[in-house]
Amino acid sequence: MKILGIESSCDETAASVVEDGRRVLSNVVASQAEVHALYGGVVPEIASRAHCEALTGVVKEALEKAECTLKDIDAIAVTYAPGLIGALLTGLSFAKGLSFSCGKPIVPVHHIRGHVAANYIAHPDLKPPFIALVVSGGHTSLLKVDDYTSYTSIGQTRDDAAGEAFDKAARMLGLPYPGGAAMDRLAAVGNKNAMKFTISHVDNCPYDFSFSGLKTAVINQVHTLQQKGIELTEEFKADLAASFTETLVKSICLRVDALYSEVGSIPLVLAGGVAANSHLRAGLKTLAESKGVPLYLPPLSLCGDNAAMIASQGYFEYLSGSVADLKLNAFATKTV
Ligand code: KG4
Ligand code: ZN
Repeated sequence: MKILGIESSCDETAASVVEDGRRVLSNVVASQAEVHALYGGVVPEIASRAHCEALTGVVKEALEKAECTLKDIDAIAVTYAPGLIGALLTGLSFAKGLSFSCGKPIVPVHHIRGHVAANYIAHPDLKPPFIALVVSGGHTSLLKVDDYTSYTSIGQTRDDAAGEAFDKAARMLGLPYPGGAAMDRLAAVGNKNAMKFTISHVDNCPYDFSFSGLKTAVINQVHTLQQKGIELTEEFKADLAASFTETLVKSICLRVDALYSEVGSIPLVLAGGVAANSHLRAGLKTLAESKGVPLYLPPLSLCGDNAAMIASQGYFEYLSGSVADLKLNAFATKTV
């Protein structure tokens, strides 16, 4: 079964054709990052307009690269939540138009489920149940994936997402948006013990995250120097990136460690844009090895937003009977 996936929840316009949920026939991503970098973050209205301009070409290219036409497609999977509402609506409206014109069913896909599904593509043996740690620009969640379309939330961020904290820290250090990957490289050459940041705890919710305190601590460090008229040296920037990353990774690993004391050796699956972070990957590898937990990491090419992950999850949603009609709406927030 061939599914055409469409993704437009933030600043990537993406389309892909995936066969039987795991075989990628094409995967086209048009990133708007360069446009938003001018403003230091995603500007929703600009994102929506850029999606409108890109969608037709991106979908056409995905079909061509997969060497198929709409006739060969069995269903159209589209991200309908969560994300920027205007951005979501562009992809959803496009999918509805296609569905109406060619008579193919629409399958709504939750963006976070999509991120998790990137691992079904990369790891053909991976099957639920497992624990998923989703870390992206908009989300940080620990989830129990009971089945392909059945999720239980274990913990989530109370404020900023991990990627948001990375991007903000990067901005304070003068790195362009989105700064996560640059922070990753900078942290590798810094001293992770140079600065002490506090690891947050959320009372009575051991698996919930909080990164706004860490973000504010970074802002304060930089402002303090700036107010004294001291220029940020390359060494300071690298040390700050390393210390920030160390605290963030520890904060995540502590929660995963605590969770695994309860859940045994059920596999652990990492997903989302921040899953590309080399320090987080290394921290989780060490943890998983020490606990004897099978760990599944997505390839870097499938960590960020893409439509192959949406088409993959769309396949499993379709098999479970989740087909929408043209009344389907988009939602900025929605539980997984
Ligand atoms: O999953 P994603 O593409 O979009 C959302 O669904 O939010 O994640 C984007 C986020 C950005 O915050 C970006 O800075 C971050 O992922 N990111 C990284 C790395 N690569 C991307 N953060 C830390 N280290 C990286 N190597
Ligand atoms: Zn995402």
